[in-house]
Amino acid sequence: METYQVVAIIPAAGIGQRMHAGTNKIWLQLGGRSILEHITILFQNLTFINHIVLAVNPDEIKEVKDFIRKNQDLDSAKFSLVLGGAERQNSVENCLSFLQNWLGWETHQRLALVHDAARVLIAPELIHIAIEQCLIYNAVGIAVPVKDTIKQIDSEGFVSKTLDRSTLYAMQTPQVFDFNLLCDCYRQVAALDRKFTDDCSIVEHCGYQVKLVKGSYENFKITTPEDLIMADTILRRRQSASRTGI
Ligand code: CTP
Ligand code: MG
Repeated sequence: METYQVVAIIPAAGIGQRMHAGTNKIWLQLGGRSILEHITILFQNLTFINHIVLAVNPDEIKEVKDFIRKNQDLDSAKFSLVLGGAERQNSVENCLSFLQNWLGWETHQRLALVHDAARVLIAPELIHIAIEQCLIYNAVGIAVPVKDTIKQIDSEGFVSKTLDRSTLYAMQTPQVFDFNLLCDCYRQVAALDRKFTDDCSIVEHCGYQVKLVKGSYENFKITTPEDLIMADTILRRRQSASRTGI
């Protein structure tokens, strides 16, 4: 038996405003399957993930429940559904609260792995590496060097500063944490009037070191319409490579 357990928290409770699809982007189709179907099947099939907690938009709870129950490739017992909140941070916070009372914890070492539903192209090897690193460092994110030069601008749209690109990384998910540490950090920032857009920044804010490991440019977050086209192209390439064995 493993000496640790990993629960995946998958925030899926957004509205997909930047996708302009008129629906939460988790329902959009990619290679014949919805984004939600891609991500749930992918995580369910990872033997090193013990349970999956999905943060779900309160308006979609019935739809998501039905989707999991009716999908023959999914085992409902592996999933818990938790109501999402107004921001991603609130959605993850609700999942952490749920997990504090979860009866499935059996080991002393508990890890919480947070992964955006909208990053369907994540490679399982990367998830595994992030978990292994978390067992050493307690707080791990995956990230890629930024390709563009990044500038800060003022309120009038003029450049105020050019940042040194060689020191800049774009954060991705999964981000993996010791469960107690993450809960403690979320508790500490709960009352702050500040929006954190990823989990590592909450842990950093609380003074902990976060170890970064190399992500992949293919693991982008499907956010705007052109991302869907790119994701489709990559999926097709992977499918044809797996058929031809290349
Ligand atoms: N998310 C969530 N709860 C929220 C907002 C976002 O669980 N209140 C989830 C999204 O469903 C998504 C992930 O967090 O899987 C990353 O967020 P993002 O890509 O920003 O998705 P949306 O918030 O849905 O998109 P947008 O910001 O364009 O509205
Ligand atoms: Mg958002």
